[in-house]
Amino acid sequence: MNLRFTDEQEMMRKMVREFAEKEITPFITQMEEHETFPRPILEKMSELGIMGIPIPEQYGGSEMDFTSYIIAIHELSKVSATVGVILSVHTSVGTNPILYFGTDEQKQKYVPKLATGLFLGAFGLTEPGAGSDAAGLKTTAVKDGDAYILNGSKVFITNGGEADTYIVFATTAPGTGAKGISAFIVEKDTPGFKVGKKEKKMGLLGSNTTGLVFEDARVPVENLLGQEGDGFKIAMANLDFGRIGIAAQSLGIAEAAFEAAVAYAKERKQFGKAIGLQQGVAFKLAEMATKIEAAKLLTYRAANLKDKGIRCGQEASMAKLYASRAAVEVAIEAVQVFGGYGYTKEYPVERFFRDAKVCEIYEGTSEIQRLVISKQLLSN
Ligand code: CAA
Repeated sequence: MNLRFTDEQEMMRKMVREFAEKEITPFITQMEEHETFPRPILEKMSELGIMGIPIPEQYGGSEMDFTSYIIAIHELSKVSATVGVILSVHTSVGTNPILYFGTDEQKQKYVPKLATGLFLGAFGLTEPGAGSDAAGLKTTAVKDGDAYILNGSKVFITNGGEADTYIVFATTAPGTGAKGISAFIVEKDTPGFKVGKKEKKMGLLGSNTTGLVFEDARVPVENLLGQEGDGFKIAMANLDFGRIGIAAQSLGIAEAAFEAAVAYAKERKQFGKAIGLQQGVAFKLAEMATKIEAAKLLTYRAANLKDKGIRCGQEASMAKLYASRAAVEVAIEAVQVFGGYGYTKEYPVERFFRDAKVCEIYEGTSEIQRLVISKQLLSN
């Protein structure tokens, strides 16, 4: 695999990096101190075509490859993992399910609005009693004339309360597990649908995470995605690609923590010399750099397979598993390099540490990634 980016991919990287440094950096305090959703940032990202990078031009997107999209999440997350996850969820699991599984009418109606950033997308799979065991969800959808009536609730929904459309999973055949799950496009103002509790989180403070509540919500039959019973496969297939996005987000956090630690290790002097010249710190930096490089290879390899149209669920899970652990470990070590200062809000490494942890949890915990990887190994 050629790990050199093409000129087009390099241009994307440069453009997103400059954008993130110039536009997102001044907004960090607002997100951290007031948990403000970065709406003005998303508006600017829409103008630059970042909200629909891998979406075909025919549907209003930038029609670039998946790797370019992964580069964008990586670069955004170096500055703000909050903005990284908003884009990842919006694209991978908020827009792509319609592009890949929607009818022509559904694609025409929703994808251009999502790809241009006029609409924000979200994904409603997790429930209070069904996290890792996604097939155990309890939300029901019962057909009633020209609509499905949805009842139930969802939790931990990224972009909850801010999204215009939600890809919602519900069972149309209770008691039949994965085979009975169907997927629906639910618009934010659907009667009987409301946004639930907003979570107070450890990190990603500018990102909205809420519940969703369905009380006899009437979703038009034309908003069924695929056929009845296709929902679980739609969720899993899109999570395969979503997980590469979370790996890229992890990579961005790890690199940001590492770069901060290197700069500090060069500047901070103890015992008469820079702490980076002392082996205890130098070896930490060497370990951190090696983990980042390994995470980068796994992440871009998975993206490259996706671009080639090769099934890459296992590689996506490996990338997410490894990169998310690397982000946590690198961020912890970055705090350690900074010592007491690292534990304060004066420096960004404590934020990287808080933001990294959820990468091992959402879009499938590390334990679920091991399950996906091992299942595939044993089925060969
Ligand atoms: N692509 C296509 N189809 C797939 C698939 C994939 N990657 N994985 C499984 N399937 C199909 C299987 O082939 C099977 O179909 P058949 O019966 O026709 O063979 C069907 O789906 C059921 O598969 P399993 O028997 O493997 O299902 P399972 O119940 O054992 O669950 C699991 C598998 C891997 C544990 C799955 O439940 C899972 O991934 N759980 C974690 C859920 C998750 O990631 N949640 C994240 C929520 S979204 C989020 O976090 C977004 C956010 O806001 C940030």
